[in-house]
Amino acid sequence: MGEGRLPWQGKMGQDSAGRDRGGVKGAMKPVLGIETSCDETAAAVVAGDGRILAEAVLSQLAEHAPFGGVVPEIAARSHLRYLPEQVRRTMAKAGMHFRDLGGVAASSGPGLIGGLIVGCQFAKGVAIANHLPFVAVNHLEAHALTARLPGLAEDGAPFPYLLFLLSGGHSQCIAVLDVGRHIRLGGTVDDAVGEAFDKVAKLLGLGWPGGPALEKLAEAGDPNRYPFPRPMMRRTGCDLSLSGLKTAVAQTVSRLGEISPTHRERADVAASFQQAVVDVLADRAGHAMDMMRQRFPGSKLLVVAGGVASNARVRDALLEAARLQGFRMVAPPVRLCSDNAVMVAWAGVERLRRGIIDDMSVTAQPRWPLEALAP
Ligand code: KG4
Ligand code: ZN
Repeated sequence: MGEGRLPWQGKMGQDSAGRDRGGVKGAMKPVLGIETSCDETAAAVVAGDGRILAEAVLSQLAEHAPFGGVVPEIAARSHLRYLPEQVRRTMAKAGMHFRDLGGVAASSGPGLIGGLIVGCQFAKGVAIANHLPFVAVNHLEAHALTARLPGLAEDGAPFPYLLFLLSGGHSQCIAVLDVGRHIRLGGTVDDAVGEAFDKVAKLLGLGWPGGPALEKLAEAGDPNRYPFPRPMMRRTGCDLSLSGLKTAVAQTVSRLGEISPTHRERADVAASFQQAVVDVLADRAGHAMDMMRQRFPGSKLLVVAGGVASNARVRDALLEAARLQGFRMVAPPVRLCSDNAVMVAWAGVERLRRGIIDDMSVTAQPRWPLEALAP
């Protein structure tokens, strides 16, 4: 990417009129970010003004695919094997030495503990050896702050805003009030949305990860063919539940299995399932925006993140839900929606900018709710 500038980025940290748009300003040395919480070994260097100087994501998909999901032990060993080279290459791409950095940030939870330990301890090693500050980044906060990368959203992402995080491991509605200040408004009571997509895709024989394949199959199907349940629709609050929907789909697939379903029938199941999820998400997002407005009347921004946010139907439905509520919606580009190290480095910039540094005694945590970040 030329000069590390993203296609949507203008002058860093400012809009075309030169006003600050929710990012941070001023000179600060670049931060190295490391992401190893699941099945991506990623490193990135982000400048203090938000320029992405280098980034690299190594997916372990091929290693986990034969098992139909992420195998934690394989993930941890793979991070251990590839992270040093990934960091070396990223630093070389940025044209920098460790001593040129302003700090090292690593996803330190929540996630798979083996991988988190690898990334977190590696980052501490680099920090100690080069006398740099270390930042233990909460992976969910990294997703939450991505929208604030200068230039990403036309009108920026000033606090407070609503985050709808839709990934394979998490599905939550979060009020993002500031760095380290979050309120969980609701979330799934059973499966994460990406997990539901993966499980239904598996039922339909689509392999893993199933979300993108299911979206593709659904294109040829009729979303109204099967009236699957829409759990929790219109309930107060913004919790969601997907296990009942998944069971209904499993029963339909098993019935169809007896008559060897045609491609068209499988596509109808995929499209009907996807439509049910889309309806539930739009309804839940609408409720979450209501809750946000009541608690923070000035807030009119919905940020969508996580792998499922790359689903076109989901994006369109949430855009419409936001429009109906008078909210602006920001969805980072797909590569910054799913797990990456740019978001970790950027969270590091935001924290270091506020003077927040972690002690070397901080350890990786498999569970680390956002509320625990409150000072
Ligand atoms: O955020 P992510 O990359 O990784 C974490 O889980 O943290 O999300 C991956 C999830 C997987 O469950 C995948 O099936 C789902 O996001 N996903 C999709 C689509 N692309 C990825 N689900 C539905 N439609 C898609 N196009
Ligand atoms: Zn994630």
